Amino acid sequence: MLRSRIRLTPEKLVTNHRRFLILPCMIQVCRLAKRFGGLTAVDGIDFEIPPGQTFGLLGPNGAGKTTTIHMLVGLLRPDGGEICIQGDSDPTRPAVRQHMGVAPQALSLYEDLTATENLAFFARLYGLRGRRLRERVAIALRRAGLFERRRDRVKTFSGGMKRRLHLACALVHEPSVLLLDEPTIGVDPQARHHILADIEALKQEGCTILFTTHYMEEAQRLCDRVAIMDHGRILVMDTVPNILAQHGGRAVVRAELDHPPTDPDSLPGHVEGDSVIVETDRPFEAVKQLAAAGVSIRNLSLHQPDLETVFLKLTGRRLRD
Ligand SMILES: Nc1ncnc2c1ncn2[C@@H]1O[C@H](COP(=O)(O)OP(=O)(O)OP(=O)(O)O)[C@@H](O)[C@H]1O
Ligand SMILES: [Mg+2]
Repeated sequence: MLRSRIRLTPEKLVTNHRRFLILPCMIQVCRLAKRFGGLTAVDGIDFEIPPGQTFGLLGPNGAGKTTTIHMLVGLLRPDGGEICIQGDSDPTRPAVRQHMGVAPQALSLYEDLTATENLAFFARLYGLRGRRLRERVAIALRRAGLFERRRDRVKTFSGGMKRRLHLACALVHEPSVLLLDEPTIGVDPQARHHILADIEALKQEGCTILFTTHYMEEAQRLCDRVAIMDHGRILVMDTVPNILAQHGGRAVVRAELDHPPTDPDSLPGHVEGDSVIVETDRPFEAVKQLAAAGVSIRNLSLHQPDLETVFLKLTGRRLRD
């Protein structure tokens, strides 16, 4: 159905709606939409991911991230728009799926099987057999830091270990495109660090990665480009530095003073109680000015704009409630 509306040429992909100019892209989405009854979960979004790039879909609960991933993997049929993965508009085709690794938001592991058995099961689904299967399973176990626990049943694993195995199952067949839906949800800081380092390594190896998250610091650390989603729409999409430069606003220096200032007009910012607050592009200048004004500072903090600030500015709400 969708395939008939997309025509590939060596130079560019042309669709009924628009031209994708950066090519070849691993993932392209054009005016993608999904409704559930009266609710528009995904409302005509566009994005493209060139090979080897990491793209983050960032948004609060119910933004439409998982629905987007489900359409990309063919679990949900779009109500509108087009999807193109490695030049193919049908993500359910085995040839497309062969190159894709998917780690859904909900853990999908067999609790009564061991780590090795889980990995071997997923590897077999992708057609791996014999020596190659054993090699890939061993690599995935080492990568997940679970080699020593490979013979243990998953039900004896901690939440972080399960999440690491869940990611390993998505990689076992060595896909070139990875779709990771909240890969670090519900894990402790150590497991999160492990998973993020894993994603970084995959990126270095040339994988094209789409991942969703509520955690703006993950997006800032990993992503070449980020799209901030809310109510099914993309509010802003760019590199993190560009988004911060355009929408982040200025840094905020807050100096708590030992005593309320006697001459507030001589200070660089405005006074709230015994604190001076300076919004500035040059926070270190502001600190120098405060020091030169001779005030006695009890505590000093600097808040640089981040993606959370951007989301707050764009929506009036926080990403995480
Ligand atoms: N199968 C479904 N039937 C009805 N509504 C659905 C269905 N799946 C998702 N929705 C609704 O679509 C909206 C988007 O949901 P989605 O799961 O895509 O959000 P999300 O961004 O992944 O959120 P979270 O961060 O909580 O995982 C929500 O309002 C959700 O309730
Ligand atoms: Mg989700």
